[in-house]
Amino acid sequence: MPDLASPFLDIRNITKSFGVVKALLDVSISVTKGEIHTVLGENGAGKSTLMKILTGEFAPDTGYFELEGQRLRATSPAAAHAMGIHMVHQELAVFENMTVAENIFPYHNFKKAGCIDYHRLFQEAREKLGLFGLKTIAPEAPMASISLAGQQMVEILRCIVAEPKVIILDEPTSGLNDHEADMLLEILRHLKATGLTILYISHRFKEIMAISDRISILRDGRFVTTLANDGSVSENDLINNMVGRDLSRSLYQIKTTGNAKSGAPLLQVRGLAKARALNDSSLDLNPGEILGVFGLEGSGTSKLSRMMYGLETSDAGKVIVKGRHISPLTPRRMVAEGVMYLNNNRKVAGLLPELPVTDNFSLPVLQKFSRFLGFLDLPRLGNLATNFVKAFAIALPSLATKPANLSGGNQQKVMLSICLVPEPEILIVNEPTRGIDVGAKTEIHRFLLDIASRGVGIVMFSSELPELMSLADRIQIMRNNSIVGEVKAGDYTEQAIMRYAAVGSDNLAV
Ligand SMILES: Nc1ncnc2c1ncn2[C@@H]1O[C@H](COP(=O)(O)OP(=O)(O)OP(=O)(O)O)[C@@H](O)[C@H]1O
Ligand SMILES: [Mg+2]
Repeated sequence: MPDLASPFLDIRNITKSFGVVKALLDVSISVTKGEIHTVLGENGAGKSTLMKILTGEFAPDTGYFELEGQRLRATSPAAAHAMGIHMVHQELAVFENMTVAENIFPYHNFKKAGCIDYHRLFQEAREKLGLFGLKTIAPEAPMASISLAGQQMVEILRCIVAEPKVIILDEPTSGLNDHEADMLLEILRHLKATGLTILYISHRFKEIMAISDRISILRDGRFVTTLANDGSVSENDLINNMVGRDLSRSLYQIKTTGNAKSGAPLLQVRGLAKARALNDSSLDLNPGEILGVFGLEGSGTSKLSRMMYGLETSDAGKVIVKGRHISPLTPRRMVAEGVMYLNNNRKVAGLLPELPVTDNFSLPVLQKFSRFLGFLDLPRLGNLATNFVKAFAIALPSLATKPANLSGGNQQKVMLSICLVPEPEILIVNEPTRGIDVGAKTEIHRFLLDIASRGVGIVMFSSELPELMSLADRIQIMRNNSIVGEVKAGDYTEQAIMRYAAVGSDNLAV
């Protein structure tokens, strides 16, 4: 157990505004050596901003911090590195066209006879990867060729090899599945045991409870409290401190009544297949239905979601929208048919970060109505955008703000809103609430149920089983690149579905 009495990193009275937005107001937090200290708060609460002040990316308006009793003010990331403070950002920062080894040691000086000593570089990288149980990642592999989870681990390794005193992880698991997240938590425990101090940001309560020594809560840019995670604190305590109110309805109620309307299916997927990626997969979606698709990483869910929208080619099969066979199957054609797709990874997707939010909102509409471009109803578009900003409580100074200046969770909310602007009849959503705080999650769930009740069909891919069980009318389960079964949420326990997805068994109910 770390010594909680002596502050190691002392954050004192930090205030930071961006124009009219007060991101942080007089925030003080004490961090002890060797602890895992989680910073928790709703989307836009100021977590990332505070961390970026520690790493010298932003200068605070007032306030400072002390590390080992020394008063500091990082003026640049390089200055923070020199002090021993390193951060893994919410958005991945990797060099895609370099090798894994070069990403681990970007500033290496392994030379032999004036040339880069690749042998040594790869050897050292292999050792580091091995240390973290990442033996399947080859140091010679191009960064772009490894999985998102792998890239995330490599980015963490890059910080670790610099032997930091403090490492900051901003939502490191938001792009990872449960298994990968568990692996990362193991690595963090290992690092903590070596005396490293870790500042941690996450919206996933299960892992916060599992990993944190203490938890500091921010609300609207203000410090609320620091709680010791010694068994006396419940998830509810955290939530109440975070949102400043009791959430009226429990987040996950198992769905018992269906919305599905009878009639011709909206969407039919027939025999989609691709060698080594997806086996003969079919599904039907009715108007007003929320169809869940659940599978563990590598089960084929992500391939299926992409192929059914034409984001990836398939060898066989077809997609039929309202009775019409869509050929060729392209995202553009799907948009024109009233089908929208929410990408599962805001780190690489979707938004034009440097254009105003309004322009981002017009993207799918421009595409849908491109033939009538001259008649685009801009005021209506503005209204729609404003309504979504209200409905999802998107923290946004104005519609002219660039997504690049929004908090991570708010970027995700903007992306979901953009999918809804063209008023789709069919919505394919991939991890719709990833990186979204508990309060907003409830709003988004309510919204999806509401549009479904008005006849919109939704295919929902999610790795969060409780989320699927509270929203979906039916859940398709995938394993080994195939759809292996279908359940109604109310009929089975979470454990039974999870086990079926993991190992399969003849009887789902055991
Ligand atoms: N570069 C910037 N320019 C203008 N405003 C910004 C900038 N960075 C952050 N903000 C604003 O500051 C506030 C706090 O944002 P921050 O990114 O710190 O939130 P967060 O707690 O990390 O949220 P999330 O959980 O969504 O990642 C938000 O209102 C955000 O829009
Ligand atoms: Mg953030």
